[in-house]
Amino acid sequence: MLIKSLLISKKKTSSRTPIWFMRQAGRYLPEYKKIRTKEKKFLDLCFNPKLASTISLQPINRFDLDAIILFSDILVIPHALGQNVKFKEKIGPILKPIKNIKQLKNIGKDRWDNILSPIYETIDIIKSKNKDKTLIGFCGSPFTVLTYMIEGKASKDHKKIKLFLLSEPQKAKEIIDMLIEISIHYLSKQIDAGVDVVQLFESWSSLLEGELYNDFIIEPNKQIITRLKKLYPNIPIIIFPRNSESKTVKLINDIAFDGLSIDLKTPENVISLCQKKEIIIQGRLDPLLLLVGGAQLEKKINEDLLFFKKENYIFNLSHGILPETPISNVEKMIKMIRNYETA
Ligand code: CP3
Repeated sequence: MLIKSLLISKKKTSSRTPIWFMRQAGRYLPEYKKIRTKEKKFLDLCFNPKLASTISLQPINRFDLDAIILFSDILVIPHALGQNVKFKEKIGPILKPIKNIKQLKNIGKDRWDNILSPIYETIDIIKSKNKDKTLIGFCGSPFTVLTYMIEGKASKDHKKIKLFLLSEPQKAKEIIDMLIEISIHYLSKQIDAGVDVVQLFESWSSLLEGELYNDFIIEPNKQIITRLKKLYPNIPIIIFPRNSESKTVKLINDIAFDGLSIDLKTPENVISLCQKKEIIIQGRLDPLLLLVGGAQLEKKINEDLLFFKKENYIFNLSHGILPETPISNVEKMIKMIRNYETA
């Protein structure tokens, strides 16, 4: 209930389904592309409070969505740990191989904040410009961040990370522990700076099964969520364990969180378990369908709205919006959701 009330602008009292979407500030927006062509380095945008706050508010100004998501990236964390991160056009992130874990360990809280503090400033600016809308802060979950740290780039087969977990589990646990600490610190600072909700992105949870899923997905997220809840009991936490399928049942039973971001593979029993436990469901329109548009898109939106009804449901996508998505399709989607509520 908390997330839902937070997601709806405090000014409005209507009970319509809240809507926001992953990567809502991004390359499908001409106003984003305009800033992006001037700033060649993606991370420099993330660390520029004036530009990052402007970008965070672009989709709100255009569509009046119900939540703002902080414009940043999950890979600011390896960067703050001393692993150089760059984004190459048409390729994606490139991370320098880690030579020595000690090299990461030597870096303490002060150094983290030296790098991350512009992000806290971005939050402060967003809040000063828009007090009413819910602001969502985020970070990557430890395993997903570790995946990029070890693979060094977006990978197809994820062979390196799987080999790393199997051949050097102790080292992997050491880095995961470090990521747990920095994530708690970073999310706490985001909350202190003004975010209302936090989301954990576990985008690569589909890579692990059984004991590995337990040790590297459930346990680290549980530690972060349990410790954050002790510090900030009123801040809702959403988790996105992408493509975890039926493994999500254990995740739900083991961790006390407020919202689950679902995807195209989320099974029915996971959805009913959320409904039973009053966990907010967020999702799950296929970004490809939003790109294609037309009658298929309308049909699916209507089906989802009917299926989830208004209760404990936030409309979103199953993954980030694709850069080629026509803005007219986004407008149509938002209009349909809003009209559905008032109909
Ligand atoms: O959702 C939002 O609008 C908030 C900002 C946000 C970005 N990335 C901006 C971004 C958030 C929440 C993320 C999360 C993120 N970043 C995840 C988890 C969610 C997911 O997509 O699974 C992951 C895995 C990353 C890592 C990442 N960032 C990759 C692999 C890439 C390259 C691929 C791509 O889509 O370009 C990015 C780049 C990135 N992050 C862009 C944006 C707007 C595009 C950068 C550009 O302008 O070139």
